[in-house]
Amino acid sequence: MNKKIIFLSLILLTIFFSFTYFFKSNNKIVYNSKAVSLMKKYHILEKIDKNTYSKTLEIALESNDFQEQYATFYQNIDYIERKNFIQEINSLLSNNYSPEDINTIFAKYHNIHNFEINELNRYEEYRTKNNCSLEEAVLKVNIGLDHDFYTNINSIKNSSEYTVLVNKYHTLEKYEPQDLKSLSYDSKYQLREKAADAFEELVSKAKLDNLYIRPYSAYRSYERQEIIYNNYVIKDGKEKADTYSARPGHSEHQTGLAVDVWSEGYNYIKENDAKWLKENSYKFGFIVRYTKENQHITGYIEEPWHLRYLGIEIATDVVNKNLTYDEYYDLYLK
Ligand code: DAL
Ligand code: ZN
Repeated sequence: MNKKIIFLSLILLTIFFSFTYFFKSNNKIVYNSKAVSLMKKYHILEKIDKNTYSKTLEIALESNDFQEQYATFYQNIDYIERKNFIQEINSLLSNNYSPEDINTIFAKYHNIHNFEINELNRYEEYRTKNNCSLEEAVLKVNIGLDHDFYTNINSIKNSSEYTVLVNKYHTLEKYEPQDLKSLSYDSKYQLREKAADAFEELVSKAKLDNLYIRPYSAYRSYERQEIIYNNYVIKDGKEKADTYSARPGHSEHQTGLAVDVWSEGYNYIKENDAKWLKENSYKFGFIVRYTKENQHITGYIEEPWHLRYLGIEIATDVVNKNLTYDEYYDLYLK
């Protein structure tokens, strides 16, 4: 009886292992059974080098992106843990990069998680021109900074998200927020609901610290921004206006998530109040969006009065990481 059970178990184990593993030679790792049946399905068993395991091939087979004509190429590409790795190598292979080229590219870039395979040429050009690190080239190019401001403009797809990125390379077009709420200071100033509530809290807390601040501009529609910007252009010329006023479609004020702050009784923000905003706004979910150090990235001169709502968690992280929102968005939210 015992012998029978052992015998039966052995048979079952043998069947199990022959399904689970394939090409067990030279103690090499072998393909799993799913990959093997997919090889059969795609009729590529004959083409595959049976003595060399390739994780890239195995992963490709199991993905929705497998392309039969690249089967033997996959075998020679070193596997990299990336979200859309197979799609990325398909794109390179379709542009006639060889597996060797692809291995070289990934060896160079794989630690830079925000690198985009279709922008390789721009990264290399930016790096040559600016003599900077590869990380910096990737970040700057992803933001768009290898092109002039207001060129290569993208339409924003997530306009109503609280984390939306609006800058000189991204336009809201005629987007209008749907949940605007008046601020208690004066109903003509409106922000989106969460931002409005957070702003009230910020103002109350400032008051407790003996600082008196008020909104002087909050939500602005596309049309309103157009009027404001055009007036500045008439006054100062386009080049100068562009350093302090956003073109219509490109203002954070159009999201209903940005508010400009003045000191109560003044037509500007006092230095001490600006310092408090810089040090405390993130606790209420706001960041001071345009700083002196970041003019080359934002394209705007310093605006210590312009607060952008992001929610406490993200605002805190942006401040802790000491990044502009443009950089933060590319590195962590895209
Ligand atoms: N002043 C800021 C940049 C705006 O116009 O949105
Ligand atoms: Zn502003």
